[in-house]
Amino acid sequence: MSNLKWWQTAVFYQIYPRSFADGNGDGIGDFKGMTEKLDYLSGLGIDALWLSPHFPSPNWDCGYDISDYCSVAPEYGTLDEFKLFLAESHKRNIRVILDLVLNHTSDEHPWFIESKSSRDNPKADWYVWVDTPPNNWQSCFDGDAWTYSPERDQYYYHYFMKQQPDLNWHNPQVKQAMWDAARFWLDLGVDGFRLDAIGTIFEDPKLTPHTVPMNLAELRRFSELAKTPREIKQKEKYWFEMFKNQYGQAGLHELMKELRAVLDEYDGDRMLVGEDDDIKYMGNGADELHLVFNFPLMRTERISPAHIRKNQKERLARLDELSLEKGWPCNTLGNHDCSRIHTRFGDKLHDAELARLNSALILTLKGTAFLYNGEEIGMTDYMLTDISQVKDTMGSWYYHTIVTEMGVHPEEAMMRTAEMTRDKNRTPMHWSAGQNAGFSPAEARTWLPVNPNYKDGVNVHDQDKNPGSLLNYYRHLIRIRKSSSALQAGEFIPLQTTAQEYFAFLRRSDNQTVLVVLNYSDKAIELDFTRTKEIKNTKLKILASSAERRTGEFPPSFKAGAFEVLIAEAIRG
Ligand code: NOJ
Repeated sequence: MSNLKWWQTAVFYQIYPRSFADGNGDGIGDFKGMTEKLDYLSGLGIDALWLSPHFPSPNWDCGYDISDYCSVAPEYGTLDEFKLFLAESHKRNIRVILDLVLNHTSDEHPWFIESKSSRDNPKADWYVWVDTPPNNWQSCFDGDAWTYSPERDQYYYHYFMKQQPDLNWHNPQVKQAMWDAARFWLDLGVDGFRLDAIGTIFEDPKLTPHTVPMNLAELRRFSELAKTPREIKQKEKYWFEMFKNQYGQAGLHELMKELRAVLDEYDGDRMLVGEDDDIKYMGNGADELHLVFNFPLMRTERISPAHIRKNQKERLARLDELSLEKGWPCNTLGNHDCSRIHTRFGDKLHDAELARLNSALILTLKGTAFLYNGEEIGMTDYMLTDISQVKDTMGSWYYHTIVTEMGVHPEEAMMRTAEMTRDKNRTPMHWSAGQNAGFSPAEARTWLPVNPNYKDGVNVHDQDKNPGSLLNYYRHLIRIRKSSSALQAGEFIPLQTTAQEYFAFLRRSDNQTVLVVLNYSDKAIELDFTRTKEIKNTKLKILASSAERRTGEFPPSFKAGAFEVLIAEAIRG
């Protein structure tokens, strides 16, 4: 269809392994479960999977604290089960990328255990050690960034929790060890990596203190209370100021180039996507990362036509500026770290309609699309009610800090914690209306509670046979994207760029032009594209519409229904 690489046209689907499918009935997702669901994923039409970490881990940060980079967490299965999963995925033409956490390991990783054992062991310099805390840096999860280790009578640095010590990437042995780990999985045939938190790998060598007049817990409280535009601006400034010396420092581009060279040793277009929105990590377009996420698109209270337009204009212009090859966009609206799309971008009155508009957006904008497991059935955030249920350590730290240090009443503290913890968007996947949503057997106790709305149609089984369900809508959108050269590869041409209520654009390839209209308003709108040079004198042929009445062909002037998603091919003659 075009000479694009697989990862450019792909729809990726993020699996959060702990919450996807429990194959052995212990209340935790695993590879057996994931393998059993591959036919479902293949039917959904996705091309690739991104697995959040599946490595052994003490799970202080739900797998993002890795204690062995070259094996599988026992609760998820064995290496053989992983290999089977990979082979079965590939058999269905589904590629698999893994999560590579470079910045830090678990404090239970043998590298750290050795490093902290003495000041002169062979790995003494594999982490960031100092005699006394040199500044007021914060861990972005829980308080001070420097933690004392009695064995060495020294402090180590951690950008995240104290159970996640930062590696010292200035040490060539660290690089070697990590590249070897990457090769281990590449040798097994994985198709690439999502790179965790790359911006945090290096720190300001001068160790410059931050200048924010509060600590992290206070900043979180300040952020919760910030409501006016001035306060919101101040909050953003503080967050930036607090972490700017611990983030995006020199050395990253050289490092990304080295890792890219490792991937390029392999055939099969292995790829890297960075958990960062900075296009600079794509280097000259061919020597660093293949993709970085367009996070600015989702960094907003509300997805509005004006926001999308501004985002696309800035983003696409910057991608075009790379010096050797143009960069390729990569769009997403959700992942395991943030409130679910349905909840976050809903308005509590039209959540279902807005969810359809937003999924159409991600699947029709120019670029690779990333979906998060459960969004295709409209899973929503689930608010925990008791601190004993909280598994996200960032949440429990916050609860205890505001109760003990700020005197917040436990009931209120729990409500705030439920809002801020990432547990709300990580609850088990809903496969059916049966007990435990079919995620685990009825008698199992699932690792996080199941959101009870699985009984109200928010589950795969109920939506599967219903032609009007969100699930079938996703299937349809993915199918038309796959059969359309314009949607996969075409240029992006925004139309009628002053409209506040709707977002309209064309995707145009050599042999196809597709019009997309997303009406974000609750009113029907008369639209007229008869003077749009690319599609005047054409007839529109519907590829997808959320308005059931729309079928067949019609001229490019029509009435778009309230919240309508319309995707149509422009046909000449
Ligand atoms: C980003 C991951 O997405 C998040 O879940 C994790 O807590 C941090 N990086 C630390 O690894």
